[in-house]
Amino acid sequence: MEKNAALKKDPRLNTYFADEAERRSVTRTMFDEAAPGYDNAERITALGSGAWYRREVLQRCGLQPGMHVLDVAAGTGLVAVAAQELVGPTGRVVALDPSPGMLAELRKKLDVETLVAYAESIPLPDACVDFVSMGYALRHVGDMDQAFSEYLRVLKPGGSVCLMEISRPQNRLGQLALRAYIGGVVPLLARLMGRYADVGRLWAYYGDTIEAAIEPERILDALRRAGFVDVQCSLTFGIFREYTARRP
Ligand SMILES: C[S@@+](CC[C@H](N)C(=O)[O-])C[C@H]1O[C@@H](n2cnc3c(N)ncnc32)[C@H](O)[C@@H]1O
Repeated sequence: MEKNAALKKDPRLNTYFADEAERRSVTRTMFDEAAPGYDNAERITALGSGAWYRREVLQRCGLQPGMHVLDVAAGTGLVAVAAQELVGPTGRVVALDPSPGMLAELRKKLDVETLVAYAESIPLPDACVDFVSMGYALRHVGDMDQAFSEYLRVLKPGGSVCLMEISRPQNRLGQLALRAYIGGVVPLLARLMGRYADVGRLWAYYGDTIEAAIEPERILDALRRAGFVDVQCSLTFGIFREYTARRP
């Protein structure tokens, strides 16, 4: 089984939690507390590269009017909002996230069904959605195999999965630039946003999870192992990766 080993072994992340149970409780608290400032922080740091990019990726991955979408790790709804725009009034979006605080922010901007749950255990029946999306959360998932087999289960045959994730740049210069940005610029920006002090901690954790993130090839392998076909990965601006696959 492909557990998200990097989350457990990397010494940077061991300072946040000791095991899977503690990881769930620590990250849930972290996201609950950061929820009111998340969109602002995301906008300023651009680590997720904004609404236009999320929408463009969903469109490129084949999201169309009328589709039924499950947005996993929906957070404050940055992917879900773009999905709702694309599927239109005849489509449907369901937003899933373990953090009630993040989902409360989502509900302020979007009137959709929300589920407080984890990617590894989705409270939906088999073959009920056309499209599964997940933005910037793969590195928070403890058991990637379990999550991907859940995605396959809830997708209708022919349905697509679209995962957006930041990865470490391939060249040394890019790695140094990203480290400087995450280690220096982002904490400074987070501090400047004073009233959202907890966002600073979240962003420090965010940077550490990028550094410790699993390699793209292992994510592609896990998708194939789950039973997906047409498994692909594209790279935008050297760090943003979009993983796409289809249920046969
Ligand atoms: C960085 S936010 C991303 C939110 C949103 N998708 C976006 O694009 O901005 C990561 C989200 O993943 C959620 N999360 C953490 N562990 C998860 C898991 N095992 N399954 C599903 N969601 C999880 C967190 O609660 C948080 O809302």
